[in-house]
Amino acid sequence: MTLSAKVFVRVHIRWMIRRDLAEVLEIERASSPDAWDELEFLDQLRRRNCIGMVADLHDQVAGYMIYELGKRELKVLRLVVDPRWRRKGVGAQMVAKLVGKLSHLRRSRIWVHVRESNLAAQLFLRSQRFRAVEIVRECYADTNEDAYVFCYALESLSDPSLRSNPLKRPVSQDCERENLPPWSSSSDPVEGDS
Ligand SMILES: CC(C)(COP(=O)(O)OP(=O)(O)OC[C@H]1O[C@@H](n2cnc3c(N)ncnc32)[C@H](O)[C@@H]1OP(=O)(O)O)[C@@H](O)C(=O)NCCC(=O)NCCS
Repeated sequence: MTLSAKVFVRVHIRWMIRRDLAEVLEIERASSPDAWDELEFLDQLRRRNCIGMVADLHDQVAGYMIYELGKRELKVLRLVVDPRWRRKGVGAQMVAKLVGKLSHLRRSRIWVHVRESNLAAQLFLRSQRFRAVEIVRECYADTNEDAYVFCYALESLSDPSLRSNPLKRPVSQDCERENLPPWSSSSDPVEGDS
């Protein structure tokens, strides 16, 4: 039996610039059922509180993320890795970059919506210590799918028992429903570790 070692690629995460957009659009088209077009990227990135970053691998875009700065949280609108570079730690490095921007005094949470059919993203987020805290029914107009709302909360890491085994954590109590961002309508919380 041969065991293949996991390949990890180190990326440099930097601000997205206009010149990156062609590569970003190519990855977006290969990755999203509701791919944004150029205009949509530009509209989002022109907003004062919206940030774009890319995972740069030897001057190529291996992934990108678009997120919104809220008063107390970050809301991820896009976090995508080029299909050719998946399962090599690129997504995890982008999440680490976001987590590095959190602070107890200011923005302490990261929110992201994921389609119910997108199991890969759900497993990815769980591996990054996000918790599924809510379902938004029929969130996506194209398929009528529900969205699972995932939250990463800095607060929960202050408990050492949770830090050592995040999968033992109960559904996050620090992502309280009253703290959900306004774009998420309230409905049933997701049970367990889903
Ligand atoms: C979700 C996504 C961003 C993950 O990026 P990635 O660079 O492949 O993720 P990483 O290599 O950092 O994975 C870290 C861990 O997440 C989990 N994971 C990632 N992809 C997974 C998959 N397809 N199936 C199961 N687990 C997965 C694994 O635990 C993985 O660790 P391992 O490879 O050592 O087992 C990528 O699949 C993607 O771009 N998907 C399309 C866009 C999307 O759905 N975005 C959702 C926003 S969260």
